[in-house]
Amino acid sequence: MTMKPERIECDVVVIGSGIGGLSYSLAVAEGNPQLSVAIVTKKEQRESNTNYAQGGIATVMSPLDSFESHLADTIKTGAGLCHPEVVEKVVRRGPQAIKRLTEIGVCFTQLSSGSTSESASEKDSSDKQEFDLALEGGHSAKRVIHADDLTGREIERALLTACRNAPNMRLYENRIASDVLTARSGNGICATGVVTFDSTTERYVIFDARIVMLATGGVGQVYQYTTNPSIATGDGIAMAFRAGAAVANLEFVQFHPTAFYEEAERSLLISEAVRGHGGILRTIKGHAFMQDYDSRADLAPRDIVARAIDSELKKSGESHVLLDISSISTEDIHSRFPNIYQGCLDRGVDITKEAIPVVPSAHYLCGGIRASLEGVTNVKGLLVCGESAHTGMHGANRLASNSLLEAVVMAEFSAEWTVANIEKFSPTFGVAAPEYTRIVNRDTENIILAHERKGLKQLMSDYLGIVRSLDRLSLARERLLNINALIGREFAHLPDVYAALELRNVALVALLMTEMALQRHESRGLHYLADYPEANDSRWKHDSIIEPKSDSVSGLLREIGEISGYHVSD
Ligand code: FAD
Ligand code: SIN
Repeated sequence: MTMKPERIECDVVVIGSGIGGLSYSLAVAEGNPQLSVAIVTKKEQRESNTNYAQGGIATVMSPLDSFESHLADTIKTGAGLCHPEVVEKVVRRGPQAIKRLTEIGVCFTQLSSGSTSESASEKDSSDKQEFDLALEGGHSAKRVIHADDLTGREIERALLTACRNAPNMRLYENRIASDVLTARSGNGICATGVVTFDSTTERYVIFDARIVMLATGGVGQVYQYTTNPSIATGDGIAMAFRAGAAVANLEFVQFHPTAFYEEAERSLLISEAVRGHGGILRTIKGHAFMQDYDSRADLAPRDIVARAIDSELKKSGESHVLLDISSISTEDIHSRFPNIYQGCLDRGVDITKEAIPVVPSAHYLCGGIRASLEGVTNVKGLLVCGESAHTGMHGANRLASNSLLEAVVMAEFSAEWTVANIEKFSPTFGVAAPEYTRIVNRDTENIILAHERKGLKQLMSDYLGIVRSLDRLSLARERLLNINALIGREFAHLPDVYAALELRNVALVALLMTEMALQRHESRGLHYLADYPEANDSRWKHDSIIEPKSDSVSGLLREIGEISGYHVSD
């Protein structure tokens, strides 16, 4: 039996309701109130990585700080792969973006107040505020603006309120986007809309649009243990790639050094700001080991700290290390880290009395869909923003709290570009939906889903973790090719459509990440390859790029294309 999907027309369709998608949508709607904007999000509207951000947004706000210093810290942490012109633009635009966030009602913690207010209306949105600035690893000055230790939740609250009040915008929850629709345009490809699956009605719905914005966030759920919520399955990256967009630097996965040690797949983050506030990492026997690895000790960048923990755990055979916060007063813990305090207490650890058991956990993807700072990709009309993008901001390792900054600044640049250029994109509505949207008799057993997803996450954790080897990566590649083949064949027939669509993306993104890791024969930033433990500047000081439709398309892509029906070459 088959069924034709419903269609909705709009000027701009935005996939994702995190800081990237919402900031972009607001700025487009305000920039041209004639444009209709549809925001599609796969779960409840606030569910996003943004919603869980703790530490804050790095930006230069103090007379004791400078743009040059923020730029230098970002580039140093990025281990040779940052694009300095991109970093400069983002860093310099930071204060303006923060001002904009406060204008729409985000209440950042002030020096005097010590806490955030619940109501946006209570907010004085002047730019004369004195923000409380925190210190985080790799930063040479205090420059992290925050809302207690719940910065992301406060940003989501304010952005969603502002979006609800925008007349030309509509937000669609519980719809997972599965593919970007494209049409031929001159000698290239043009995005014409997005296929979505409504998990409430169990029906496919197509959004026809002149501009498609992917702001779908990260890939943490590719791993067994992650700080990311369940939405972070790399959907935008997989969708963009299938539509013909180039991807870059997917081998650079940031493991946050300090996630609460627990069995749960999604671990509670213990913000880097805790180390910025005096927290010290110790082995279970009490040794403060970070001084053995880096002169910056506990405030070294994340790649160094995560690798140091990994190495200590391998040496000792222990399951975790400890974050000793005995130097932080009980009063300070309650006022500065109320969420972390409560989260640990819920897990049986009173952090005013005992150290926190921590391990590194998959946290952030530095690479993504290759784009300019305006979010423009090589597919016409397909834009990207936030964690799913690769602009060159983060290089081989992201500096703490630079992600929210990049996302919000990029959203503004992308919106300006959209408003200025949308007239060049005449509607190409009604492009045929993929065949799988018409299948309604889904009779395959769901066990394939659960089994493959579990296996894939374990595989990625074991073979594409903090320390890699060519042998393990080759094994991973082989297994992932098989998983991709299986999912490519079966996904349209599995009864749990939402989970099947996600697994299809997770499998493709995992394969692309592995392929890039396998190709980079050096160690740099977050990519540590035991076979090549040093950086090789003469050979590898450049981005890894895979362009699905170029002549240089690798054998791997042909293999995926053939076995899973992806359209990878023309
Ligand atoms: P997200 O906020 O993840 O939003 C993605 C959106 O896309 C979601 O709404 C999701 O539901 C939707 N979506 C995804 N796929 C689909 C699909 N197929 N169909 C429809 N919708 C879809 N960074 C900092 O700079 N400072 C911090 O303090 C900080 N703390 C962090 C703490 C935690 C626990 C985590 C997990 C991350 C933290 N980060 C921090 C990173 C930062 O939060 C993210 O990089 C950033 O929020 C990404 O924003 P985004 O808009 O790109 O994506
Ligand atoms: C944290 O609070 O440690 C997270 C900050 C980040 O991911 O940049």
